[in-house]
Amino acid sequence: MKVAPSILAADFARLGSELEKITNAGADLVHIDVMDGIFVPNLSLGIPVVEGMRPCTALPFDVHLMIARPKAYVRQFRAAGADGITFHLEAEGDPGETIDEIVRCGAKPAVSIKPGTPVEAVFPYLDRVAMVLVMTVEPGFGGQSFRADMLGKVRAIKERAPGVLVEVDGGVNPQTVKLCAQAGVDICVAGTAVFRAENPAEAVRVLREA
Ligand code: DX5
Ligand code: ZN
Repeated sequence: MKVAPSILAADFARLGSELEKITNAGADLVHIDVMDGIFVPNLSLGIPVVEGMRPCTALPFDVHLMIARPKAYVRQFRAAGADGITFHLEAEGDPGETIDEIVRCGAKPAVSIKPGTPVEAVFPYLDRVAMVLVMTVEPGFGGQSFRADMLGKVRAIKERAPGVLVEVDGGVNPQTVKLCAQAGVDICVAGTAVFRAENPAEAVRVLREA
């Protein structure tokens, strides 16, 4: 299992050393949650912050766009250093066009679904994306409880498209990660469980070994 610590749980006054911390802890990716206050009822960070973080680590940037109009911002996030760009199928615009835009920019495309969206919504895009992000909490805030009832979606995607990576996001910790591993999850996002751990390297190791 690959581990993508979510920067949302970091100390925003010290992003450079927080990135160093998770890099040294053995993280595989940096998960970056972008919120616009419209698609989700919260604001987080945007393009200049991604750009500012880019020189601080060699880890790939896994950018999770929780924004209403993703296609309009894909190019700027790519230029700021995003390696993978995930957008929500519930957002505005034609998902096929947003995927094309991500590919044109040279980033890896991924789609995400909120807990209330049925897994069938991703099926038409499985041959065009590198990854599907299955939300295991309602997007918008860190520190919520894991929804194990979302793991059926993971199984359905893996059955239909074994080559597409599946990532889960929300409430992943040393206990819930075991359920994720059983369901076939490839990458887990973990905010609180890594950044608030006394020993982040140990936290990453435990998640990875699930
Ligand atoms: C929620 C975000 C998550 C969140 C995860 O909208 O997409 O990435 O930061 O946080 P934890 O791991 O604390 O649930
Ligand atoms: Zn996220």
